[in-house]
Amino acid sequence: MRVLMTGGYGCIGSWVAKQLIDDGQDVWIFDLKQDTHRIDLLLDEDQKARVHFVEGDVSDVKRLREATEQVGATHLLHLAGLQVPTCRADPMLGARVNVLGTLAVFETALALKEQVRRVVYASSAAVHGPSEGTNRVGDQVRLSPLTHYGAFKVCNEQNARVYWLDHGISSVGLRPWTVYGVGRDFGVTSEPTRAIQAVAAGEPYHISYGGSQDLQYVGDVAATFLKTLTAPFDGAEAFNVRGSVVPIERFVAALEDAIPAARGLVTHGDKQLPIAFDLDDSRLDSQFGPLPRTTLEAGIAETYRRFKAIGER
Ligand SMILES: NC(=O)c1ccc[n+]([C@@H]2O[C@H](COP(=O)([O-])OP(=O)(O)OC[C@H]3O[C@@H](n4cnc5c(N)ncnc54)[C@H](O)[C@@H]3O)[C@@H](O)[C@H]2O)c1
Repeated sequence: MRVLMTGGYGCIGSWVAKQLIDDGQDVWIFDLKQDTHRIDLLLDEDQKARVHFVEGDVSDVKRLREATEQVGATHLLHLAGLQVPTCRADPMLGARVNVLGTLAVFETALALKEQVRRVVYASSAAVHGPSEGTNRVGDQVRLSPLTHYGAFKVCNEQNARVYWLDHGISSVGLRPWTVYGVGRDFGVTSEPTRAIQAVAAGEPYHISYGGSQDLQYVGDVAATFLKTLTAPFDGAEAFNVRGSVVPIERFVAALEDAIPAARGLVTHGDKQLPIAFDLDDSRLDSQFGPLPRTTLEAGIAETYRRFKAIGER
């Protein structure tokens, strides 16, 4: 198996790189530039030598295809993307990177069909609109995103299905919610991680929103991406991902329980993020499970421990 990750220097990609390297494999990252600031937090120098950088823009299909061919990638993990605020501020750019970039990944898989065995891509829980009622939301419901970002992810899921129907390109899309852990330093839902980081530095932090969310430990999310990349699968499906579904008060309480020094340091707003938070991942679990499920307490404690160690370094 030879994995090429688009956007691999991002938060999730850095953890996937760590897990592949821990497993004795090298990894190839296709990204705009060689920004190793997250990888530097996770890997030592010997491990970093096993991360190979290929420069390119994911919306440049020619460049992506050349790179995939040169690397001899058998598995494409597509993580490159612009987040909610950037897509809101510049929807044309958002569509170029998030939609055309995803098409470029599928065009590459199609052109190199004999070489590329699996495409896995990051969709998002933002394909769902706000919760309606109290029922847990499955992944085969009508999608009603409220952001361009979410709409682009829906478009990607539909395009993935068409590549399966027209060309037999098999793919899995995963829909994370709030990924937290070391390396999560950008985007609206990075705030719980920033709160843990602030506590590790002995500083206060105000999370600007409230309500409930689904907190997913980054190590679990990376491992789930790797499982879907390697397990047998035919078709084109997108799946909800589930971690710890909690009100923000419960996150703060878990933080204070895990780290007594956190008492009183973290406050929060009250505005609910407009995405259904109680998502059912039973289809993902029955297809690819058992899935890793780090408890909220353990995930917070591990993240704090890592931030402390980084601070001391
Ligand atoms: N982190 C989360 O909570 C979360 C939740 C849901 C979905 N997702 C999705 O998962 C994926 C990875 O998330 P993340 O948190 O690691 O993101 P991130 O923002 O940390 O990293 C994104 C990476 O994509 C790269 N990139 C951006 N534009 C590019 C381009 N034109 N060509 C090549 N590379 C480009 C960036 O340089 C960066 O390394 C994204 O698609 C995101 O939408 C993340």
